Amino acid sequence: MSVRRGPRLSLEELAPYLLTVPSASSGQPPAPLDWREVFGNDRPVELEVGFGKGLFLLTAAEVCPDVNFAGVEIVRKYQLFTATRLAKRGLYNVRVACADVRWFLPACPTASLQAVHVYFPDPWWKKRHHKRRVFTAEFVRECARVLEFGGQLHAVTDVEEYARIMAALLAAQPMLRLLPSPEPHQPVHDLDYLTNFERKFRQQGKPIHRLRYEKVEPPISPRGTD
Ligand SMILES: C[S@@+](CC[C@H](N)C(=O)[O-])C[C@H]1O[C@@H](n2cnc3c(N)ncnc32)[C@H](O)[C@@H]1O
Repeated sequence: MSVRRGPRLSLEELAPYLLTVPSASSGQPPAPLDWREVFGNDRPVELEVGFGKGLFLLTAAEVCPDVNFAGVEIVRKYQLFTATRLAKRGLYNVRVACADVRWFLPACPTASLQAVHVYFPDPWWKKRHHKRRVFTAEFVRECARVLEFGGQLHAVTDVEEYARIMAALLAAQPMLRLLPSPEPHQPVHDLDYLTNFERKFRQQGKPIHRLRYEKVEPPISPRGTD
């Protein structure tokens, strides 16, 4: 993905939009995040994993000003690019972190998120690269932990095989219940897509796989079967 440069903002100007967590190389596990402290209010929080150029965060923050959005992205230039877009629009209900989600999620408090969004995670086609995939059994476990009851996990991919893998991992998690797939929103103009990758793939006519799950109470196992 190339990043088109606009007028630069200083790090000082971007600071209110940046969420800083200690890096994995610091050797220190990230301290648990306190969303109230991060956003300065008690509004519900949603997390986007791998936000790229930030289209979803921008649109969602504008449409839902009473929701706080956090984003985690492993590439620093996308964090700064998205923070610049947020700052230019004054979207103060979003914070963006630069970190590996595998490092970041453990810092999110249990049952603290209203939704987790994962849009077009890299498929890492080569078998030897599969370990770099974001969507793993551990990731699903962590999502089930950080979501509040009734909170939703939204995952979208253009890769059929990856969608099948995601669905299998999710089906194995008793605290997540499959919901009907959301209807795709019909874009009216060029920025009216869920994400930049969705725009690219829909314009190419590729099929898009949409998964939606809800966190539920774990089923009570009958006495004596534990
Ligand atoms: C294919 S892009 C999709 C970007 C955006 N969600 C969209 O739909 O336009 C996947 C994004 O996930 C980010 N990413 C990959 N691995 C990650 C990880 N372990 N933690 C956080 N972000 C990651 C990549 O840097 C990239 O921006």
